[in-house]
Amino acid sequence: MNNFPKFTAKHTSLLAKHLNKTVFEQLKDKKTTLGFSLQQAIQSGLDNPDSGIGVYAGDLESYSTFAALFDPIIKSYHHFDRSLSKHTSNLNADDFNYNNPDTNNEYILSTRIRVGRNLANYPLGTAISKTQRDEVEQLIVNTLNNLKGELKGHYYPLYDMADETRERLIKDHFLFKNGDRFLESAGLNRDWPTGRGIFHNQSKTFLVWINEEDQLRIISMQKGGDIKATFQRLSLAIAQLEQQLTFMYDERLGYISSCPTNLGTAMRASVHIALPNLAKNKAQFEAITNKYHLQIRGVNGEHSSSENGIFDISNKRRLGINEVQCVSDLHQGVAALIRAESSF
Ligand code: ADP
Ligand code: ARG
Repeated sequence: MNNFPKFTAKHTSLLAKHLNKTVFEQLKDKKTTLGFSLQQAIQSGLDNPDSGIGVYAGDLESYSTFAALFDPIIKSYHHFDRSLSKHTSNLNADDFNYNNPDTNNEYILSTRIRVGRNLANYPLGTAISKTQRDEVEQLIVNTLNNLKGELKGHYYPLYDMADETRERLIKDHFLFKNGDRFLESAGLNRDWPTGRGIFHNQSKTFLVWINEEDQLRIISMQKGGDIKATFQRLSLAIAQLEQQLTFMYDERLGYISSCPTNLGTAMRASVHIALPNLAKNKAQFEAITNKYHLQIRGVNGEHSSSENGIFDISNKRRLGINEVQCVSDLHQGVAALIRAESSF
């Protein structure tokens, strides 16, 4: 990559903020051992001026090769400085002190907790070959097919799924969408739809997305606001999968993801919640979500808008705090949102 990219006033990402000329000169000719370049790391942020972040990694090494760019981005997003501390994990749902913030089932429609995971010894999806991606799919499916009890289910590859089935799964919030432009520019949609698919149990309370943004998105979800039960199911599933799969991990960055926002716990714990009053009082709404480190998404996930005063509220920080703290961020913040909503 020879020339410093032309950022416009529309480029508001952390990439545009942190890629100055000095950092660019330092990194422009660097590549990881696998050959992942600065150009590949920043292409999505260049193509999509409305990116919030704008960078993706190709492998674990990207996080050190391009540290002069990635570290300030990680610090801005997670408020975590990897040179100062290590990341720790705690997936023990018994450590989560819980009381249901929505005892009368008035506000929370559903709860979902997902983690991202990638296999050690393979490139991330941005840099993987078709053969490797197909191998990753096979390894994961073989493991999932051994699950028993509540986690037992079936794998549905995307390439031979009927359009109506796919659309229904997306509409019901179970499946990822096609053609995300951020992933497209990052090289994550190459060879679509082969190698991609979804595994789920019969009741669709346990689901695994394969080879979308990360090689695995392990998901536990159910109706209502029982965050603890949702967390317990997820912890059980992760423990079972870890018996057969080795996930990419770094002691300072935690679980490694293709996007720096998903490092650490790689956990997004969310509720779909009806907040029609707060929807009309954005300043108050955002004061609460900022205080509790929460993110507001629309009802169809990232980059979608809210419908009928229903929002997707989730923990924003994922690195430098453990999984119990992620779920606690959500729990305390949702309790505060419900107190505010009910006082109108
Ligand atoms: P991710 O959660 O993997 O970062 P998205 O934000 O795109 O990705 O969400 C994926 C899907 O999960 C979307 O259909 C979204 O509506 C759905 N979803 C997220 N949280 C919940 C929830 N609490 N209840 C039901 N569906 C949810
Ligand atoms: N690359 C996109 C952006 O910068 C998404 C960032 C966070 N979301 C994600 N799914 N990784 O806005």
